[in-house]
Amino acid sequence: MRNREGKIVTTAVTNLDIHDIARSCRTFGVKEYILVTPIESQHQLVRRVLGHWGEEPSMKWHPDRFEALSRVRVEASFTGLLDRLIREHGVKPEVVLTDASDLRGGISYSDYRTELQARGKAPNPRPVLIVFGTGWGIDSSFHPAVDRILAPIYGPEGKQEEGGYNHLSVRAAAAIILDRLFGN
Ligand SMILES: C[S@@+](CC[C@H](N)C(=O)[O-])C[C@H]1O[C@@H](n2cnc3c(N)ncnc32)[C@H](O)[C@@H]1O
Repeated sequence: MRNREGKIVTTAVTNLDIHDIARSCRTFGVKEYILVTPIESQHQLVRRVLGHWGEEPSMKWHPDRFEALSRVRVEASFTGLLDRLIREHGVKPEVVLTDASDLRGGISYSDYRTELQARGKAPNPRPVLIVFGTGWGIDSSFHPAVDRILAPIYGPEGKQEEGGYNHLSVRAAAAIILDRLFGN
């Protein structure tokens, strides 16, 4: 990820993101919500959060939270994650980038939704891996790993150059994008 100075850094996992994005994933039928970080202590943190909500009293009082969190996975690297998905699905998933900036070749949500619906009718559709950033967003050095780019989400005031504002939290961006692609 980039930091505020444009340098490449490893960001920290946010507890709130784990809970909120897991619920959005469960709501919109996403099979796995995968947090990628090379830092082992962050893996422990995620395991501790998941372990807490998987214990008997929490599970009993918050079964919906437990159900959503059961889709959370952690991986140490993006290449390790890709290798696992290729092993499990027998095909490389389509890597889809999300970004608040207007990157070249961005596809609209309605076009990609229509495409996914058509592809979903095939017997074994290629899995799709939608990538979200943290910090100040995903660095361009990641772009060679990307197959598709989704257009940015804008509000009524449009792009920043036009006076608009579209720097959403990753939680909000994930919920909006999943709704646009898979919502009713
Ligand atoms: C850059 S991070 C910001 C992290 C921030 N620290 C937070 O509170 O979540 C937000 C990520 O959400 C997605 N995102 C944010 N705003 C977006 C927009 N307008 N359109 C598309 N994706 C967006 C991108 O994946 C981006 O990398």
